[in-house]
Amino acid sequence: MDIKELASASLKARSLSYSPYSGFKVGAALLCKDGTVYTGANIENAAYSPTNCAERTAFFRAVMDGHRDFSAIFISGGPGEAPDDFCPPCGVCRQVMREFCNPDEFKIVLVKSETEIREYRLAELLPLGFGPDNLS
Ligand code: THU
Repeated sequence: MDIKELASASLKARSLSYSPYSGFKVGAALLCKDGTVYTGANIENAAYSPTNCAERTAFFRAVMDGHRDFSAIFISGGPGEAPDDFCPPCGVCRQVMREFCNPDEFKIVLVKSETEIREYRLAELLPLGFGPDNLS
């Protein structure tokens, strides 16, 4: 999949968001190093805290299929039909990315539309992060 297709996959995943409480729909498309793509959306809960973010939905799906090597995640989010702004990942999701990804290499791509994207590295969005290497 090229960049436009990955942006589109995150927007398509966003349409599956279950977010009756916030009305804030988030979609993610996670690109594995072997080219496989896993999508996710936020899944909310009446008790609020069990809510799972789109990014973690995608990560956990991928990990449970045996994938641990990732190169990028495309994220789109916002209220309404289409996002009207860029949606950055929350701190918990950044920490999950840190578990599996090299902070200097892993790309976080924020998607407003198929053609409006902003690209960051995990290290920029989670500086001085705590990861598996800190425990070894
Ligand atoms: N949300 C995500 O899915 N990803 C993020 O990184 C930020 C927040 C979701 C959680 C909740 O369902 C809604 O957006 C509002 O916070």
